[in-house]
Amino acid sequence: MNTQVLENTYPAEQEQYSNRVNSLLCEYYGYSPKAFVQTYGCQQNVSDSERIKGMLKNMGYTLCESADESDFILFNTCAVRAHAEDRVFGNLGALKHLKRRNPKLIIAICGCMAQQESVAERIKKSFPYVNIVFGTHVKHRLPEFVYKVIAQSKRVFELSENNLVIEGIPVHRDGDLKGWLPIMHGCNNFCTYCIVPYVRGRERSRDPEHILAEARQMVKDGFKEITLLGQNVNSYGKEPNYGVNFAELLRRINDIPGDFRIRFMTSHPKDCTTELLDAMRDCEKVAKHLHLPFQCGSDKILKAMNRRYTSKEYLALIDAAKQRMPDISLTSDIIVGFPGETYEDFKQTIELIKQVRFMALFTFIYSPRPNTPAAIMDDPISRQEKGKWFNELLAEQEKIAEQNITRFIGKTLKVICDDYGTDGYMLGHTDGNAIVKFKADRSVYGQFVNVTINGFEGTLIGKLK
Ligand code: 5AD
Ligand code: SF4
Repeated sequence: MNTQVLENTYPAEQEQYSNRVNSLLCEYYGYSPKAFVQTYGCQQNVSDSERIKGMLKNMGYTLCESADESDFILFNTCAVRAHAEDRVFGNLGALKHLKRRNPKLIIAICGCMAQQESVAERIKKSFPYVNIVFGTHVKHRLPEFVYKVIAQSKRVFELSENNLVIEGIPVHRDGDLKGWLPIMHGCNNFCTYCIVPYVRGRERSRDPEHILAEARQMVKDGFKEITLLGQNVNSYGKEPNYGVNFAELLRRINDIPGDFRIRFMTSHPKDCTTELLDAMRDCEKVAKHLHLPFQCGSDKILKAMNRRYTSKEYLALIDAAKQRMPDISLTSDIIVGFPGETYEDFKQTIELIKQVRFMALFTFIYSPRPNTPAAIMDDPISRQEKGKWFNELLAEQEKIAEQNITRFIGKTLKVICDDYGTDGYMLGHTDGNAIVKFKADRSVYGQFVNVTINGFEGTLIGKLK
């Protein structure tokens, strides 16, 4: 496999570009410019955007929250479903009048959608006011791209692939309490419906020492919740092999002194081991929450999806998790209406959710993605029919979720106070990510507290213990 890892290498060359942009910026705009980053899609993208914001700040931009008032607009895009792409094209069209008003406005598009050559071509032709299009492998080169626009009046299109791990990119985190920590990039699984392996490249893990250093720094900076990110965190440490697998990585992060909670996503059932479940049980800082997408309850469809497990194996895994952690919160992703799926197949998805009783589900109607094997499979069921199945699934899950959440009444749960409510209430999240509302002084913001749950009114209601 052609994974290459550059150690601690936010390239010096990019730092030089960043410094050059910094010294040109005020002259170019005639004032101190602002930058706006709009993120679409998953947490990986949110995390990538935090590094993009870090680089923009280093170049001299002040970050702002609205496209209208900014001098640099970047869309970090998602390609996982067609709907996400349609939204980007719509929003891109709306930028035309901003560019007319401010000809110095720089517009950049990056992320999974931009990585597709056909999309980059379309932007090149149909959106001449877009200055920069770059793919997922080269985000660290943003300073160079901005330099080329400002100093050389160039349009930049850069989609090259390298499958590298680049360390040391500056980061500007959105929150001060809960933070993302990417532990790996890319995916090797090639589920037949999924575009991710094509646009994010081959799976590659970060060096555990870099991850641990970043986690230690986050704890030092006051973060109370760290979410480890990867398309398939269970295969962390396979490529390249640093001798640390995901279970061991969890244990090492858990050993960092401090009061904080560890989450992780996403897990693939085929790589989820009892060793990992043991580590989850043993590590007191690891939230007892497992997001384990099963996608479909029918073995025929799982095979067609190239998921490489059966529903029986999935259920055995769930049993193993519940045995070790009886109060574990389980969540999952489901696709409804994969090509060839019949109503009987779909009914097996319903059966599976009734058996597992998930806290929450992320449900999607199948969306054909270009160049994926599923996109050319026979798909006779109409969108309308799929919509009906989808609604049936939602209705079933709604019942389960309500029954599930009310089981907490009478229990005392540890929550992180992470938001202010109204009328003297604070809001917090449990280990299982349920929201709890309770009366408390605002000074508890950012702390872990124990709350005894005494009711449910759309959210759990509790009393400070
Ligand atoms: N259509 C619908 N849903 C999809 N997902 C990934 N690709 C597709 C697609 N082509 C869903 C899967 C995955 C989640 C992140 O998005 O459920 O787990
Ligand atoms: Fe896509 Fe499957 Fe990889 Fe998840 S594991 S990113 S669904 S190919």
